[in-house]
Amino acid sequence: MSVEGKQRVITTHKLLEMKVKGEKIAMLTAYDYTFAGIVDEAGIDIILVGDSAANVMAGHETTLPITIDQMIYHAQSVMRAVKNPLVVCDMPFGTYQGNPKEAVRSAIRIMKESEVDAVKLEGGSEIMESVERILSTGIPVMGHLGLTPQSIHKFGTYAVRAKEEAEANKLIEDALALERAGCFAIVLEKIPAALAKRVSEALKIPTIGIGAGPHCDGQVLVMHDMLGLNNSFSPRFLRRYANLHEESLNAIRNYVADVKSCDFPNEKEAY
Ligand code: KIV
Repeated sequence: MSVEGKQRVITTHKLLEMKVKGEKIAMLTAYDYTFAGIVDEAGIDIILVGDSAANVMAGHETTLPITIDQMIYHAQSVMRAVKNPLVVCDMPFGTYQGNPKEAVRSAIRIMKESEVDAVKLEGGSEIMESVERILSTGIPVMGHLGLTPQSIHKFGTYAVRAKEEAEANKLIEDALALERAGCFAIVLEKIPAALAKRVSEALKIPTIGIGAGPHCDGQVLVMHDMLGLNNSFSPRFLRRYANLHEESLNAIRNYVADVKSCDFPNEKEAY
């Protein structure tokens, strides 16, 4: 954010400083105004407007169907609430793969219409030209390697990636190339902890892990998963900090019962 006196507390530069100091980076997804305000108030460093919105907000099986208009809508809603964290918006599937000019157009649209601070793209050498072109326009880019959900139909499974040497070596090369290109951070998703450690030690820019063990420079989770809003998703890497599914269910059941029994509204709740 460039308005004098309104600069956000967390910048890409600050994230590099945090890595140097060994201060861990906390990142969480958010997709709407109300939760983004809570996430900000809780002291998060980075909010990711993830394309996981396709799953947790819209109920799709994969992240592929979400559109750039829908991502911009979520990003705008988040931006109305946010004061301190850096806000990164995922570039959705089909807006940057295979066509660097289209990638630049898409990134500029996201930045202009939502006013987020940066964009995130999934992949390594295959999308390097798009990454470089976007960076050349002055837009900060976060990389994303390992399990990249937009490629789920190529992988065929959400299992841990880069367990074999060839894939691990490619991931390290991709991470170094993303850093050389000018990315300010890289998400490492669902890879062995030992590999994430090697990558984190090899890079000057921070790594943010999800299912990538404790040695990354930061961690990210999908907000709905860590709040326990979604009980059907229980991967080993997920720690639940609340059970909002059960709490919400009980609250709504109590409301239904109170309406049915004419307990709500009572005299004090009426005008
Ligand atoms: O879309 C998303 O939520 C993500 C995180 C899982 C890193 O990309």
